[in-house]
Amino acid sequence: MASTDITATAEWAALARHARELQASGTHLRALFEDDPGRVERLTVTAGDLVIDWSRHLVTAETVELLLALADRAGVADRIAAVLSGDPVNATEGRPALHTALRAGSGASVVAGSVDVTASVRAELDRMAAFARAVRSGERRGATGRPIRTVVNLGIGGSYLGLAMAHEALAAFRHPDLDCRFVANVDPADLATVLRAGLDPAETLFVVVSKSFTTAETLANARAARAWVTSELGPEAVDRHFAAVTAEGAAAAEFGVAAVDGHLAAVTADGAAAAEFGVGAGNVFEMWDWVGGRYSLGSAAGLSLMVAVGEDRFGEMLAGMRAVDEHLARRPPAVNAAVLMGLLAVWYRDFWGLQTRVVLPYSHRLRLLPDYLQQLQMESNGKRVDLKGRAVGCETGPIVWGAAGTGGQHSFHQLLHQGTTVVPADFIVFARPDADTAHLPEAGRRHQSLVANCFAQASALAFGAASGDPHRELPGNRPSTVIMAPELTPSVLGQLVALYEHEVLVQGALWGINSFDQYGVEHGKTLAEAIEQDLARAGTAGPVAAAHDPATASLIARYHRLRNA
Ligand code: F6P
Repeated sequence: MASTDITATAEWAALARHARELQASGTHLRALFEDDPGRVERLTVTAGDLVIDWSRHLVTAETVELLLALADRAGVADRIAAVLSGDPVNATEGRPALHTALRAGSGASVVAGSVDVTASVRAELDRMAAFARAVRSGERRGATGRPIRTVVNLGIGGSYLGLAMAHEALAAFRHPDLDCRFVANVDPADLATVLRAGLDPAETLFVVVSKSFTTAETLANARAARAWVTSELGPEAVDRHFAAVTAEGAAAAEFGVAAVDGHLAAVTADGAAAAEFGVGAGNVFEMWDWVGGRYSLGSAAGLSLMVAVGEDRFGEMLAGMRAVDEHLARRPPAVNAAVLMGLLAVWYRDFWGLQTRVVLPYSHRLRLLPDYLQQLQMESNGKRVDLKGRAVGCETGPIVWGAAGTGGQHSFHQLLHQGTTVVPADFIVFARPDADTAHLPEAGRRHQSLVANCFAQASALAFGAASGDPHRELPGNRPSTVIMAPELTPSVLGQLVALYEHEVLVQGALWGINSFDQYGVEHGKTLAEAIEQDLARAGTAGPVAAAHDPATASLIARYHRLRNA
């Protein structure tokens, strides 16, 4: 791992000089392609089933050489090896970042810190599979003896975004009779929407996903869900059930446990907290502190997904992740997709001054990918100090945003084509439509239209369109990556997730920052707790706590007036 500030190196200076020359020369992608017929072939790399075409990036052969030299000087390969071998790379928390252990497969032996975690990973996956089979088969019953029909995942951030994204992406593989819903926001409207009329508490299972089991939003929703189950089911319903199955029937006093146990599971690193909340031991699944929340899709945090798509499909997703893990570990930097994507992110952030990056999945069911990548990329690399606590000497994590194609074309693509801000784009597209759409009228033709639009957008961004009318001229020279795979399957989804996880790792290695902590979000939580106390004093005339800044104090006072108006 580079011990020096990367921006003070000769490699960084060489890239800066090169960037200035390239920008001053007005080199255009049109010329780069005209002068180099082999460009596409040379700047296309594969990882598993993914074909990553990065030929439309603002790079020459010299650029690539200088970028690879920067990776070498930054010790990217060493950082990759350290992460994969379970070193405590998350230095501020003294932890490994060993999400790759979740999908290492039965034959592997992976050590986190000094503990071989292979057996515990395998055991938890087996527990998850047994749980998923029981729910999917109807064997698992609620407190009144009815099978589970709806699973409601309660979680936020890494305990929601990856899961919801994958659940949507794998819609073609979901159990037809099970409904999986997600609640993340503490806004009562979120849970209310999920508990809308028609949801039968006797057939509903809540999965509380919280690595810390302290996240205020999730615990508030979990308490509300528990109260809903208890009140909706009512002791009578449970007694009728137990009366039917046992002579003495269940004592109403036992109701709380029966209701909660039949309808509540938890996924957390704090099993004691889950037990205290009332979740029976058999329904608590383990997450580990060596897996960051935003890297936890392959862990028990994915329990609801495994229930929805089944253990085999979940296993295919893990295998896809593993394939790209192996690509990361084995491919030399010049043909290593994650290294190249990480280098390009730094190239545009620090040598072109581009602040944002857009992700454009040309797939309706992958529409939540940008939301997921926002946390993965921005919570990982939105940092201002390096591993030694020194202010970084460069820009770090880009702002990540995006939307599914072709919708973005009718929304923000105008700016992408003719705005004054250049935004590097990631296009993601599949050669075949989703498995469960082929039977629909003209599905093939409509999917071809989707793919055609994806290719057209990447081309128009790169090569532009000349016009005598300046209002119609497209400047082009706007970079993009096109990632194409055969079909959106569990394996391909796993490959995409792992590719972006590892790109984040490479970016962090280049910037010399810790991609695996997130202290920046803690202060806001502390402030909210103090403010909430004052908001809760709505009924009393008590003064707003002096601890608030003047603007907040004013808002609190106005809130009381408005709320009580
Ligand atoms: O506050 C940010 C964060 O800690 C994320 O990193 C995490 O994914 C999310 O909150 C939820 O945390 P938990 O899984 O502990 O509830």
